[in-house]
Amino acid sequence: MCGIVGYTGYRDAFPVVIKGLKRLEYRGYDSAGIALHNKGLHVYKNMGKIERLIENIDGKDLAGHTGIGHTRWATHGEPNDKNAHPHLSASGKLAMIHNGIIENYSQLKQELLQKGYLFKSDTDTEVLLNFIDEIKENNHCSLEEAVRIALKRVTGAYVILLIDQDAPDTILAARKGSPLVIGVGKGEHFLGSDASPMLEFTKDVVYVNDYELAIISPDKLVLKNLGNEILTPYVQKLDLELSAIEKGGFDHFMLKEIFEQPHTIYDCLRGRLNTQKNKITLSGIEQYAKEICNANRIIMVACGTSWHAGLTAEYFFEECCRTNVEVEYASEFRYRNPIITPGDVIIAISQSGETADTLVAIENAKAKGAIILGVVNVVGSSIARISHAGAYTHAGPEIGVASTKAFTAQLTVLSMIALKIAQLKGTLSSDRINRLLVELEDIPGKVQQILNNTSTIQSIAKKYANTRDFLYLGRGINFPVALEGALKLKEVSYIHAEGYPAAEMKHGPIALVDDQLPVVFIATKDSYFEKVISNMQEVKARKGKVIAVVSEGDQRAVTLSESVITVPVCDEMLAPLLTVVPLQLFAYYIGVERGCDVDKPRNLAKSVTVE
Ligand code: G6P
Repeated sequence: MCGIVGYTGYRDAFPVVIKGLKRLEYRGYDSAGIALHNKGLHVYKNMGKIERLIENIDGKDLAGHTGIGHTRWATHGEPNDKNAHPHLSASGKLAMIHNGIIENYSQLKQELLQKGYLFKSDTDTEVLLNFIDEIKENNHCSLEEAVRIALKRVTGAYVILLIDQDAPDTILAARKGSPLVIGVGKGEHFLGSDASPMLEFTKDVVYVNDYELAIISPDKLVLKNLGNEILTPYVQKLDLELSAIEKGGFDHFMLKEIFEQPHTIYDCLRGRLNTQKNKITLSGIEQYAKEICNANRIIMVACGTSWHAGLTAEYFFEECCRTNVEVEYASEFRYRNPIITPGDVIIAISQSGETADTLVAIENAKAKGAIILGVVNVVGSSIARISHAGAYTHAGPEIGVASTKAFTAQLTVLSMIALKIAQLKGTLSSDRINRLLVELEDIPGKVQQILNNTSTIQSIAKKYANTRDFLYLGRGINFPVALEGALKLKEVSYIHAEGYPAAEMKHGPIALVDDQLPVVFIATKDSYFEKVISNMQEVKARKGKVIAVVSEGDQRAVTLSESVITVPVCDEMLAPLLTVVPLQLFAYYIGVERGCDVDKPRNLAKSVTVE
């Protein structure tokens, strides 16, 4: 979390940095700030979003060709003006921004307090900055040397960008555990938490690794490790267009991303699925085919929506591959001392590829000999790089904080992996596999059919927009969809919503049912249909208001429901790829109806790089 941007070159730094920050606002928006080098350091910052910063600095002198900027997701210290980044060192000579957490900050702070340092903020960042400042002043060494010494004492995660009053065109950057990309231009360099701030300027980028330090001036990029050895930067070409990160005529990124799903699912299948030859090509996964087929068990590790993709995949994998599957919250798994043996295969699922808990969970499992496969969206991200192999989801940049298209892309990749293993292991008849491959190919068209008729969903959303609580129920493979539907609603509308297995409702949530409670059922025609119908009746008997997602042509669920959303018929195993779409739209329309900032819900961040 937190977005960082930097620029040094011949352009004015301010517009480049501000534009970059706006693109990274999905990473946090508790406060925003910028530091410019213009015959000295000038820092402007405040609580709230970037728009507020722009209003506040109207009329100020914003000249300068070197600058750094920050958009914050608060960890240490509440969101307010004084805790906003950049921070200025006690000497006033250094300005710094930081993404991450300095775990031993209180110890370092004690040391500095004893030396007479005073702090203006409650942040761990200001502690690290003054720690660097103190080393620099006392040892009379260069900033680079001081940073190197300081970082050897630091535990935690960081990307830091520093500018020094005495070095007008230089930015010093260092990384451990949080993402940092450097864009290489002609006579200019860009820095960002991801590549979006530099997209219109350069396609040449360097992904900085942990324990690396970069000294960047307009014409020069020097990369070193903490041992002061010079490294050769690996410059890669970005495969990303500007249009992919703009709203393209939609009111919100979330809506744009929901509507992109026919294309993103298609892109995910493209070149991998060949229904003529009944073939799936997933080269990364195929390298480890033997290990996956012989795995003792497959453990899916993820957070948030990606965890729901893992839960859904458990159904695919058990059905298709007859392998034991466990699905773990990365944040629990990493601290539980789980029993991992070399025959285990871990599938890490992550849109950003940077989620701290998922990253550490797989690092631990890798150290214990497990094979790590990544199902990741952001190319070149930390999880992608640490995995032995994997398959990218190719959903393109997802900017809306609530995940939508990344989820369906994850489901698409995971179902292909499951079918590939089933082919290799012979655990599902080839007839069934081939039918599923054809069904998979038809999914983008069916998602498009749902998107062609959103007016019903919109009017149901309007009707229920002022409700206090919601219950989402589903069974079998649609149970994780109920969880995801409830999560989407909570995230973007702040309405309390709970997802539950429909049958389990009797053991608790049924106590909530009265004539005020809307209950969303996923009641498509599948092997659980009759059971779900019974659960609907139980809710109806208690006067609950049933909203149902049903299969085209169905009448039984319809007669029990107050509001109905129809999805095309498809094989039960792939149904979540369809049933989740109306629930995403439903949450979106309710959020908009309630005047919520659906792209940037309060307190959330897209990329959670703190544990
Ligand atoms: C945050 C985001 C969620 C996302 C989760 C996991 O909470 O707001 O949308 O599902 O992190 O992120 P990942 O990038 O690992 O999928």
